Amino acid sequence: MALPNSPSVSINGERLLERIAELAQIGEIEGTKGCSRLAFTDGDRDGRDLVVTWMRDLGLTVTIDAVGNVVASTNSDGASGAVMAGSHIDTVGTGGRYDGNLGVLAGLEVIEATLAAGIELARPLAVAFFSNEEGSRYPPDMMGSLAYVGGMSVEAVLEVEGSDGTVVGEELDRIGYRGSAPCPGVTPHAFVELHIEQGPVLDKEDIQIGVVEGVQGISWTELTLVGQSNHAGTTPMSLRRDPMRVAAEVVVAARSIASEIGGSQVATVGSLHLHPNLVNVVPASATMTVDLRNTDEALLQLAEEQLRIRVAAIAEDEDVTVESRSLARFEPVEFDERVVEQIELLAEKTGLSTKRMPSGAGHDAQMMARICPTGMIFVPSLDGISHNPAEHTDEKDLIAGAQLLSDTMLALTEVDW
Ligand code: GLV
Ligand code: MN
Ligand code: MN
Repeated sequence: MALPNSPSVSINGERLLERIAELAQIGEIEGTKGCSRLAFTDGDRDGRDLVVTWMRDLGLTVTIDAVGNVVASTNSDGASGAVMAGSHIDTVGTGGRYDGNLGVLAGLEVIEATLAAGIELARPLAVAFFSNEEGSRYPPDMMGSLAYVGGMSVEAVLEVEGSDGTVVGEELDRIGYRGSAPCPGVTPHAFVELHIEQGPVLDKEDIQIGVVEGVQGISWTELTLVGQSNHAGTTPMSLRRDPMRVAAEVVVAARSIASEIGGSQVATVGSLHLHPNLVNVVPASATMTVDLRNTDEALLQLAEEQLRIRVAAIAEDEDVTVESRSLARFEPVEFDERVVEQIELLAEKTGLSTKRMPSGAGHDAQMMARICPTGMIFVPSLDGISHNPAEHTDEKDLIAGAQLLSDTMLALTEVDW
C-alpha cells in the first residue's frame, strides 16, 4: 500500500512525558519508578479518574461501558468509524510506568496535538483504555478488550472471581466504573496500539521501532494439587503424598517442555501457593499456574499436551490428585498487513530504524484485530525488563513512538478498506 498524502502534526513530547510521570505517581512503588495499580483497585480507580479528566478537558466524548472500558472520541456521536488508539492503564502488582500507559497517553497526545493544529480529518480519532488487560488479579488477561469485541459476555466478566476472592462486578461498582455504554462496543475504522516491547530485541539490536506482525498464542492453566498433610518429622518419605514435590517437578517439567520444543516456546510458573505453608508440615495442597506461549498454534497445543501428560505422571507417582482449570487461552494473532506496512513505511520515511517482529506479550490490539484492521508499534525496553518497577524506555524513544503513532493514525484516516 502506498503512503497516502496525509496530514501530519507534531506531537508535544514534553506534555506526553509529564502525563506519564503524573499517572505513575498513582500507585507508585516507593523508591522505584514503578507502579502497582491492579485492575479495579483504588489505585486503578484513581488512575482512571485522572485520565478521564484529561479526556474531558479536551472536550472529547467519553463513554464507559458495562465492564469499565473507557473510550474518548473527537466525534460527539462516539468512536464508530474512528481511527482508534488504545491500550490499558492497569498494571501488574509490581509493574512499570510504561506498560499500557504509554499507548493510552500517546493516543491522547495525538488527539490533543491534532485538535490544537485545527486540521480537518476525513475520520474521527479516538483513544481507549480497556479494563484489566493484565489479568493478574482476575483472569483472563485482555478481559476488557475481549468483552469489547464480543469474545466474552458482560455477565461472564462480572462474575469472575479474583485471586483475592473479590468479584469483578462488585469491584467495578465499588470504584464507580460500571458504565452504560453498549458492550460489545462500536467498530472503529482501524486500531493502533503503541507499546513498549517488554523484551530485549530492539534494545540489543539498537533498533528504534518494532513493527509488530502479530501476537503469540497464550495458554494459562491453574493446577490444584491435593495430597495428605502430615507431620514433617514422623512421616517416612516412602509414605508421603506431598503436593509440593509434584509442584516442584512440574516447574522443572515446564522448563524442559520449553527447551525441547525450542523456537519461541516459553513456559513460566509465576504463582505457587502452599497450604498450610508451615515449616514442619507436609503440605495438604499446592495451587500453581503455568503460562505457556508460542507463535505457532500447533506447537502451543503440543506444549499443552506435554504438560498434561507430565503432570498426570508426576502426580500419580506421588498419589496426589490434580484439578486443572484453564484461566486464559488465546490463539496466535496476525495483524492486518495493510496497517503493518503503513507503520513500516511511515517509520522509514522519517528515518527510524525498524524491525518486523512478533509480540511475546499479550495486548488489547490482539482482541481489536477481530473487529477492524489493527497494528502495533513497539519501542525499545532497556535490557528487555518489564513487569518490573525497573522497566525503562528512553524519552527519545517514547516520543519517537508517539510521533509514529500520530503519523500512522492520521494516515489511516485517509485510507479506505
Ligand atoms: C499481559 O500483559 C501478558 O502478556 O501477560
Ligand atoms: Mn501491556
Ligand atoms: Mn503487562
